[in-house]
Amino acid sequence: MKFFIDTANLAEIREAHSLGLVDGVTTNPSLCSKVGVCDPEGFRRLICEICELVQGPVSAEVIATEAEAMAQEARNLAAIHRHVVIKIPMTAAGLKATRLLAAEGIKVNVTLIFQPVQALLAAKAGAAYVSPFIGRLDDINQRGMELVEQILTIYDNYGFDTEVIVASIRHPLHVLEAAMAGADVATIPYAVLMRLINHPLTDIGLAKFLADWQKNRPSP
Ligand code: G3P
Repeated sequence: MKFFIDTANLAEIREAHSLGLVDGVTTNPSLCSKVGVCDPEGFRRLICEICELVQGPVSAEVIATEAEAMAQEARNLAAIHRHVVIKIPMTAAGLKATRLLAAEGIKVNVTLIFQPVQALLAAKAGAAYVSPFIGRLDDINQRGMELVEQILTIYDNYGFDTEVIVASIRHPLHVLEAAMAGADVATIPYAVLMRLINHPLTDIGLAKFLADWQKNRPSP
């Protein structure tokens, strides 16, 4: 399973990248706004910097909501760097834009997927990726991971090569479940990524090893 980092924070991307844990990056307007980027020029610069840092796909989301405007915005974003993947919301206009962009060879990540048939439509439109938001489904008492399992089954049934990015991940268990389900990608917030590394028994075990080493050392 590929690990993407779900952030627009360059320091977080750099740190995760140095750990070898970044196969790609996903951003969205909320994440960009969180780091103070909410203008087109600043967004272009940020996406360019992320692409230079990471040797993998970097999702940049369009703001336009009409199909032709989405497609034009997407073309401009795709021209920034070969790593750019265009994030398009799952709407009727988004499907039209996805179809146009896929025909031009521009990779699209259809986002805000909350039910399996939306993912089927996105794949039929030519999406390279879909992003089911599992945490937000869990929030309303639906099992988010069931959505991922259903999408994987549908894609397997019909041989779609659209990759499933498990998004809206809130805790390490989501990452485990994504891997058990066979998802292609998990896009993980920095804080959750760091929690994957740790276990209290690892810390206790290491402290004991070091204490034992000190205990029986011959005195100088
Ligand atoms: O990749 C989508 C993600 O950023 C949404 O996460 O936690 O806002 O539901 P969340």
